[in-house]
Formats: sequence, structure tokens, C-alpha cells
Amino acid sequence: MAKFIRTFLFVVTELLIVFPPSSLPTDTITQFESLRDGNTLVSEDESFEMGFFSPSNNSNRYLGIWYKGIPVKTVVWVANRENPVKDNSSKLSINSEGRLMILSHNKTPVWSANSTTQRQVVRPILQLLNSGNLVLREEKDKDFKNYLWQSFDYPSDTFLPGMKIGWNLKSGLNRQLSAWKNWDDPSPGDLTWGLVLGSTPELVMWKNTTEYYRSGPWNGERFSGKTTALFQLEFVSTSDEVFYTYNLSSVITRVILNESVYSRQRYNWIPENQTWRLYSSVPRDNCDNYNLCGAYGNCLVNESPPCECLTGFKPKLFRNWDALDWTQGCVQSEEWRCQAKNKDGFQKFSGLKMPDTTKSWVSRNLTLDDCRVKCWENCSCTAYANLDIRGEGSGCQIWFGDLMDLRVASVSGQDLYIRMPVSPTGSSNKTTANEESLKGGQRKKLLVAIPVSFLLVIMIVLIFSYCYWRKRKLKGNISQEEGDKVHEDKFELPFFDFTTIVRATNNFSSDKRLGQGGFGPVYMGILINGQEVAVKRLAHKSGQGAREFKNEVILCAKLQHRNLVKVLGCCIHGEERILIYEYMSNKSLDSFLFDSSQRELLDWPKRFNIIFGIARGLLYLHQDSRLRIIHRDLKTSNILLDNELNPKISDFGVARMFTGNQIEANTKMVAGTYGYMAPEYAIEGIFSIKSDVFSFGIILLEVVSGRKNTGVFYPNHGFNLLGHAWRLWKEETPMKLVDACLGDAFTMSEVLRCIHIGLLCVQLHPEDRPNMASVILMLNSENTLPQPKEPGFIIERMSINEGNTSSENKTNSSTNEITVTLLEAR
Ligand SMILES: *[C@@H]1O[C@H](CO)[C@@H](O)[C@H](O)[C@H]1NC(C)=O
Ligand SMILES: *[C@@H]1O[C@H](CO)[C@@H](O)[C@H](O)[C@H]1NC(C)=O
Ligand SMILES: *[C@@H]1O[C@H](CO)[C@@H](O)[C@H](O)[C@H]1NC(C)=O
Ligand SMILES: *[C@@H]1O[C@H](CO)[C@@H](O)[C@H](O)[C@H]1NC(C)=O
Ligand SMILES: *[C@@H]1O[C@H](CO)[C@@H](O)[C@H](O)[C@H]1NC(C)=O
Ligand SMILES: *[C@@H]1O[C@H](CO)[C@@H](O)[C@H](O)[C@H]1NC(C)=O
Ligand SMILES: *[C@@H]1O[C@H](CO)[C@@H](O)[C@H](O)[C@H]1NC(C)=O
Ligand SMILES: *[C@@H]1O[C@H](CO)[C@@H](O)[C@H](O)[C@H]1NC(C)=O
Ligand SMILES: *[C@@H]1O[C@H](CO)[C@@H](O)[C@H](O)[C@H]1NC(C)=O
Ligand SMILES: *[C@@H]1O[C@H](CO)[C@@H](O)[C@H](O)[C@H]1NC(C)=O
Repeated sequence: MAKFIRTFLFVVTELLIVFPPSSLPTDTITQFESLRDGNTLVSEDESFEMGFFSPSNNSNRYLGIWYKGIPVKTVVWVANRENPVKDNSSKLSINSEGRLMILSHNKTPVWSANSTTQRQVVRPILQLLNSGNLVLREEKDKDFKNYLWQSFDYPSDTFLPGMKIGWNLKSGLNRQLSAWKNWDDPSPGDLTWGLVLGSTPELVMWKNTTEYYRSGPWNGERFSGKTTALFQLEFVSTSDEVFYTYNLSSVITRVILNESVYSRQRYNWIPENQTWRLYSSVPRDNCDNYNLCGAYGNCLVNESPPCECLTGFKPKLFRNWDALDWTQGCVQSEEWRCQAKNKDGFQKFSGLKMPDTTKSWVSRNLTLDDCRVKCWENCSCTAYANLDIRGEGSGCQIWFGDLMDLRVASVSGQDLYIRMPVSPTGSSNKTTANEESLKGGQRKKLLVAIPVSFLLVIMIVLIFSYCYWRKRKLKGNISQEEGDKVHEDKFELPFFDFTTIVRATNNFSSDKRLGQGGFGPVYMGILINGQEVAVKRLAHKSGQGAREFKNEVILCAKLQHRNLVKVLGCCIHGEERILIYEYMSNKSLDSFLFDSSQRELLDWPKRFNIIFGIARGLLYLHQDSRLRIIHRDLKTSNILLDNELNPKISDFGVARMFTGNQIEANTKMVAGTYGYMAPEYAIEGIFSIKSDVFSFGIILLEVVSGRKNTGVFYPNHGFNLLGHAWRLWKEETPMKLVDACLGDAFTMSEVLRCIHIGLLCVQLHPEDRPNMASVILMLNSENTLPQPKEPGFIIERMSINEGNTSSENKTNSSTNEITVTLLEAR
């Protein structure tokens, strides 16, 4: 009898396979049916459809689920991500053990579902639910309680409403998302997203197993680093399950991992416009990148640079910090000593994303006061906070070791109490964000201490104002004579004797001449002790007194950065103003870049390093709080290269010496180099840090292309390099700009990014151009960049001899690029 039934079933199955129904009327498949390529299964309310498909530009067949009602084919789940079928003859069926399989034409399994049950399965059916969940259940399971298998347990790159991200602790199932490798390859890419179980579970995104973004711990309402969302978010943590989910809402919405921009994006369907609109994406900004600012570093997204140490902390390595390398993080200005009097307390910081919870401990029962005690008692504890912020706040979380991945999160931030040396005298009420946490006994002591501390505060204020006053004097704002004295006992800058210089340069002989800068010729010199130096003889018309000049040189000599040429000293003799720099044997960037044999030495990594170095040096000039120098004459011949071809900016501060203190002003004297000058500077004489950014953009494009901006004309259109680059960009063939001598040996994405940044820097309007801090972040990250607008000066047609540029363009020396060609645009 049993044998007869089996045979009968076999015949029925085969019949169905031989004569597949043209379209399946229901949303289910039984064990006797199968889904062939070409047929689809549709959910009851017709919102989702399942079948075989091929990604746009790929002939492989995959089994997937997509929205039925949406004309833009949007696949939300793929079964055989890594095992595509090569032809149209495969089918999906349920095998005799109740397991879902994709079989190829010769009945070999291509893919099979991971069923969880061991028991005998009775009459399994496959059903596509209205939520987009594909479930395998026994027919008798009318309540949809015990699925044998469901696609929601094995997500691809899409997180649909009702899906869970996280763990089934009983079965060990961990539901994670992973991005498609690219737009036509559904196999798992580098970007993954899942829930990490720790003392407090967190959502984490990884890029190739490196932590890339973390949500912060769940605080009862939301994840601490996330902004509040419109969607009903839910976080469930029981002994069986820990997961994160969100509720169905009235809009069609999905969350996907997008490998091409390395982010998690939420799209909403806009029926009127028949498009998916990007609603939000994570990481939202650079501060979301995991631990950007290092331990105890605070990331402020609207500041540039974005990293600063928390109050009471200082950079661990100032050098790196100044060079925008924040990975080392911060250390406490004054160490706390475990349980020592006045050396061990807590300071409250508000509005923070909670630090990395890998090394932390939690308790739901403790109050905040108990939590504080708990932390204080353990000498490795560094901070504590409420676990749940709802109502008055409850629960306790304490951290051990350095606090990582902090940032200001104004909407969703919380209070964090960090262990610090807190003495009653330090408790002024001036700070706004950071308040003292004062409790019980400490408060009584404070009452006694207030008068004392008041006096102290007054003294500190007096001392600080005195220091500030002195500092302002250093800037040369106060009478010259006093300023002079202060400098001379503070800072030693060698003043060279004029005869020494004459001897070193062989009386400024022409064979010692290295080149001609915007402010005068440069000579090579050898001092008596054998040291090689570069000597810059400034043009006579600086209009500056000896004392002013000396002050300026001293200030410039104090600027020390690995991408700036070191100022060794100066020489004043009558009208002569001479600067002495360190000598760079490799000369300048233009001597490499525009020389057919030398340029081969600059491979792409070196070029990228040069671009990056210039950017860093320029940022240092622009943002150094003491001076804020605008270079005004940035060009490839002012970028010198050391032995390892590291770039060093020279001639900085010279412009400043010429104009004294009126930087950011409008000047009659346009002292720059045509071809690198921003339009507003060349035409109206208005200069700002953004005109330097323009020049930087030109240099960047020159480094990428190996061609000069001026002097090389593109016969078809009378454009300069800038115009040429812009044209290629508009034609979407920017790679044609790349220097042919690089061959294929470069990273495409890096080069494209550089061109993109270059074009952003040379936009016509200064306010559109990024500042150098943004440029550095752009060079460093993979976030999407804004589209550039049309650059300034794309056609060779300007003549600019308005101001007093006589000192620059009197010569026709080969290195002088001031020559302006008049050329009609055709
Ligand atoms: C895929 O698309 C690219 C350009 O979009 C095209 O060059 C290529 O030929 C396409 N490949 C296939 C297999 O259609
Ligand atoms: C497979 O099916 C798809 C859709 O039905 C069709 O576009 C494609 O041409 C077919 N490929 C082959 C090799 O038959
Ligand atoms: C089932 O899932 C486990 C865990 O993900 C995996 O190791 C195993 O290979 C899977 N088995 C099949 C048949 O897919
Ligand atoms: C990820 O790792 C693979 C192999 O280790 C490598 O090829 C790929 O470039 C890495 N991707 C990123 C973004 O680091
Ligand atoms: C969504 O949330 C509402 C109210 O919170 C609840 O009544 C409903 O059952 C939820 N729906 C789902 C599918 O969870
Ligand atoms: C990934 O993001 C980019 C930029 O936002 C977008 O153009 C692209 O369509 C996204 N990819 C997917 C698969 O949604
Ligand atoms: C549809 O698109 C147009 C143009 O992009 C826009 O103005 C309009 O607001 C959009 N409609 C909706 C409902 O978003
Ligand atoms: C928390 O309190 C409950 C009841 O007050 C108690 O049963 C439980 O053991 C406590 N848990 C901890 C970790 O102290
Ligand atoms: C402090 O906490 C750490 C981490 O939980 C633990 O290993 C250590 O034993 C604790 N020390 C004391 C003195 O309680
Ligand atoms: C500190 O400042 C806050 C707000 O300015 C004020 O409400 C509070 O009373 C002050 N505390 C003390 C101790 O002065």
C-alpha cells in the first residue's frame, strides 16, 4: 500500500514537472509541485513576488524575492547568492525530507535551505507571506508558529519591516546582513551588519571584519549614537533571543547595505514619483566612523578638524594630533589616583554617544549612586552611566580601560561620568556641557572651599589674561619696540651677516640661481660650515621696516611642520631682505612633473603622497591658531621635494611679510602666479584661504595629469588644463586626464577621487570650495562627494596687470610663469 502511494506521488510530481502550470494561482507550493524558471510565486496581497531572475548586466540566474507592485525591480532577498545557475532550466522544489532545494537540469542540487528540525516533516508547504518572508511550514501549522525554515532567518542585503537582526540564543542562529558585492553580483561583499552580544548588545557594521560603525548600546529608547527615527524601533532581549526589529509602517520602506558607498541606507518608495527616495544613511558623517578620534577623543562634526580631546584631556602625541592623525587619542591632563583624596572623582559629560562597550559590565538593579560606588571601588573602572535613560534613568553600566569611539550626539546623547582627579577647587560652574558631579560629603566640603576657590579663580583669571596679553603682543599688535624685546629673549633665530650670504652665494652669481619665486630670486648657498642652504633675496619693495620684517620671520620660523620648508634665518642689510631656508636637493615638484624623464620617477603612490603632504602643510598654515597664513603663491615650483620625495611647501609667510597684518584684505598688489590664481584674486584682488584652495586644486590636477595648467593649449577648444579636465568630467571620461606615463599602475578609485576633489577646489565661487580640513577628510575617506560646479578660468583669455606686479614680471626667466597670453576663445 505504502509503496503504491509513493509511486503515485512520484507520478504526480513528475507530471507536474513535465507540465508545469503556466502560472501558479496561489501563494504556496506543496511538495508535489516545483517552481520552474519563468514562473513566479506571488504573496496573497500581491506585494511580493518570488522567482528566478538575472541582475541587470549578468546572465546568471538567481532565485530571489522582489516587490511585485514596483516597476523598478528591487530584489530584497536572494537564495543562491554564491551559487548562480548558468541556464534557465533549474527549478525550486521541496525534497522528500521537507527541505527546500534548487535543482539544476540534471537534478543536482545547486542550493539547499538549512532546515532546523530533525523530526519527520508532514506535508510541508512553501508560502510567500505578505511581509516578503518565504516560509516553509507543515500544512497543519495553521497559526504560523513553527516554521521549518524562513527566509527572514537568512537575510541578504535588505532589512524589511518585521525582520530581525540578531541572535536566537537557543539555536545559535545569528541573523546578519551583508551587501551585494556590486550592483550585478549578489554574492556577499565586504560590508556586513549585525548585532554583537556583549554586556550590552550593539549593532555593528564591519568592513572586511574591521569594525566600521557601531550604534552605541541600547538605552531603553534607542541606540545611543543614533538619532531618533520615524520608525517604530524595537530591541528585544530575553534569555532566548536578542534582536533588533522595526514595525511595519504606512510607507513601503527597506534598509539595505550598499557596498558601493559603504553605508547602510534606508529607502522609502514615493508612489507619486515612482522612485525610491533615500531617507537616511549610516554612517551619517565622519564622526560615525569607528573611533575616528581615538581614546577619549571627542568628535565634533561641525568643527574642522573634527577631533578634540574631552575637557581635562590632552592629545597623547601632539605631533600626530596636529598632523590630523588622531588614532593615538588623548590622555588625562592629570592622572587620577585610585581612591586617593582629591585625585579620584567623576566628571559628568553630557550629550555623548556611549563609548565602546566591549570592556564593560552592567546591572539592571543598581541605581546611579550605587553605580558610582561600584565603579569607584574597582581601580580598573574608568566611567559609569545609566543603562536605561527612560524616566529618571535606571540600571548601571561601568567601563574598564580607555574609552573608545566617543562623539557628541546632541539629540540622542547621554550623560557619562568619567573618572578624573576632581578636587573641590576645580569645581567652577563655568563650563556648560560638563558639570561636576557632586555628591553628599563632597558638597559640604565645597561650601567651605568656595571662598578659597573664588580667590583662586580670580588669580587664575588674572594670570591667564596676563599670558593672553603677552601672547597678543607676540603677534605684533602692540608697539614694535616692546614686541621686539619679547621676541629676542624668547626665541633664537640666527641673523646672518650680509657678507656671509654674499660669500655663500658667490655674490648672488647667476650659476647659483635656483629659480625665481613670486617675491624674488632664490639662490643656492654653502655656508662656511659646509651646510647647504637656499637663499631667497626678496624684491626690494616690501615697504616693511627691518623690525617688522624680523618679527615676521621669527613667527614663520616657529611654524614647524613636516610639509613646510624650515626657515633657518634671515638677513637684513640696508634695503636687502633675505631669507635662508633649508636646502632641498630634489628641487621642486615642477622640475619632476614637467620633465619627460624625471616624471617617470613619480609613480602613483608617490604622487598621492605628494598631494596629501601638500594638503597637510596647507592645512597647518591655514589653521594654525597663531598665524593663519594664506600662502597666496602656491604652485608646483614652490613645492620642494626632500630626499624621499616628500613635499614641503616653501615661500609661506612671504606674502604676509609684504603686507604686514592686513591679511584677508583686498589688495592692489596681485602677487601670485597666473595659472594658479583664483578668479576672485586675479580679478578683484580678494584673497582668502579659499584662493589657496583654488591653487591647491590646480596643483592636484597637474600632479594627476602631469601637465601644466597654462602654456599647454588644447587645440580643439582653447581650454587650459582646468577647462580640459572639466570637459572630460562632463563627458564622464575623467580617466583620460591621467598622466599616460603612469600606465595602469594606479588605484582607479583613488585617482578618480583626486580628480573629483581637484574639481571641487577650483570651483568659481570661493564659498563652494571646501576648506583644507574637508579636503583632507575627503582624501582619507570613501564617502560620497558633492558634484563640482563649473570651475573658474577655463579659457585662456585673461590679462591681469592691474596692480603693482612689476617685480614679478620684469624678467622673462624660464621659471617665471607670470607671462600672460591673450587668447580668444574659439
Ligand atoms: C555591463 O555593462 C557595461 C557598461 O555598463 C558594459 O560595458 C558591459 O558590456 C556589460 N556587460 C554585459 C555582460 O552586458
Ligand atoms: C532565460 O529567461 C529569461 C527570462 O525569461 C530570458 O530573458 C533569457 O533570455 C533566458 N535565457 C536563456 C539562455 O534562455
Ligand atoms: C547551515 O547553517 C550553518 C550555520 O550557518 C552552516 O555552517 C551550514 O553550512 C549550513 N548548512 C547548509 C546545508 O547550508
Ligand atoms: C577585503 O579583503 C579582501 C581579501 O582579504 C581584499 O581583497 C579587499 O580589498 C578588502 N577590502 C577592503 C575594503 O579592505
Ligand atoms: C506595530 O506597532 C503597533 C503599535 O505599536 C502594533 O499594534 C502592531 O501590532 C505592530 N505591528 C507589527 C507587525 O509588529
Ligand atoms: C548605493 O548608493 C548609491 C549612492 O547613494 C546609489 O546611487 C545606488 O543606487 C545605491 N545602490 C543600491 C543597490 O541601492
Ligand atoms: C516628485 O519629484 C519632483 C521633481 O523631482 C518634486 O518636485 C516633487 O516634490 C516630487 N514629489 C514628491 C511627492 O516627492
Ligand atoms: C535584581 O533584583 C531582583 C529583585 O529585586 C533580584 O531577584 C535579582 O537577583 C537582582 N539581580 C541582580 C543581578 O542583582
Ligand atoms: C574590577 O573589574 C574587573 C573587570 O570586571 C575584574 O576583573 C576585577 O576583578 C575587578 N576588581 C575588583 C577589585 O573588584
Ligand atoms: C551652575 O549653573 C547652573 C546653570 O547656569 C545653575 O542652575 C546652577 O545653580 C549653578 N550651580 C552652582 C553650584 O552655582
